[in-house]
Amino acid sequence: MHYTNDELKQKIYELKEKLSVTIVSHFYQRDEVFEIADITGDSLELAIKTRDDDAEFVLFCGVAFMGQSVKVLSPHKRVVMPKLACCAMAKMIDGIYYDDSVKFLEENGVSRENILPITYINSNADVKAKVGEMGGMVCTSSNAKRIITTALGEGKKILFVPDRCLGQNIAKQMGLQSMVVGDGSDPKEADIICYDGFCSVHQLFTLEDIEFYRKKFPGILIAVHPECDPEICDASDFVGSTSQLIKFIKELPEDQKVAVGTEFNMVNRLREKNTYILSSTKPECPTMNETTLEDVYLTLKSIDEGAPMNEVFVDESTQKWAKIALERMLAL
Ligand code: 13P
Ligand code: SF4
Repeated sequence: MHYTNDELKQKIYELKEKLSVTIVSHFYQRDEVFEIADITGDSLELAIKTRDDDAEFVLFCGVAFMGQSVKVLSPHKRVVMPKLACCAMAKMIDGIYYDDSVKFLEENGVSRENILPITYINSNADVKAKVGEMGGMVCTSSNAKRIITTALGEGKKILFVPDRCLGQNIAKQMGLQSMVVGDGSDPKEADIICYDGFCSVHQLFTLEDIEFYRKKFPGILIAVHPECDPEICDASDFVGSTSQLIKFIKELPEDQKVAVGTEFNMVNRLREKNTYILSSTKPECPTMNETTLEDVYLTLKSIDEGAPMNEVFVDESTQKWAKIALERMLAL
């Protein structure tokens, strides 16, 4: 049976009336999914708001590491995801690659005791757990600078995983020396050693795109996410997390043009006028886009029938250490 979006929305609202479920959506979700959510936000806001929510079920529309983070922070909650879609960047590192990075540092004269690991929240729970076990913590794009500043206070080398761009961008902002594992530099000379992961969506924005817009609309502003390459961030007027970008753009005078370098769905719903996508291609995050309204309906239906689909589970030891890494961030 095929339902229209309006019919699906009606069915979703009916099921929500009788179930103890909170629907959560990241800004990158499709519009029709984003519209029916109770809680929306960037990855940091979602982690905090869902922890403080008391429905029995969290129905998380986003990518797998986000649903996992809710489960890690609140193990008593039942977390379900309409699609177990995996962030491409989070997939670039696992426990083995993490251990290899630590080994690389040790083999190059940095002792384990002298490493403070920080993982971007875009990583799976096993990596967060490894980081937690080594005394490190999580950061998001909106608090990375604060977390790194605090971490540097311990006088150690920072191993930053998995996003090299975020690590390099923050290092530049703070006047710190950074390197990427495997680029041939000496880790003893660097303050921040970045793992070589990246976001394929934010790699789509180029200097040519910026030049194109600056030429076409003199006076236009360029605003990008810190997952973009350092050269793109350097050539932009504003760099911020998804929430910070939204705030910046919404506060602009109506006639101020702005070209934005982040995921398509979010930019598209920002402002009706004078907002442009900083790319000649459509920068959609394929995995964020996987979740449809029908998936949300089917997930709610599965809860109603007593057999929740795609429930998120995290084993006890991973949960314990990943929670410590997340809570060290939240405490700051
Ligand atoms: P935010 O932390 O800005 O929500 O970013 C998450 C993300 O996946 C960006 O690609
Ligand atoms: Fe991951 Fe990039 Fe998608 Fe964000 S936009 S969820 S970093 S693949």
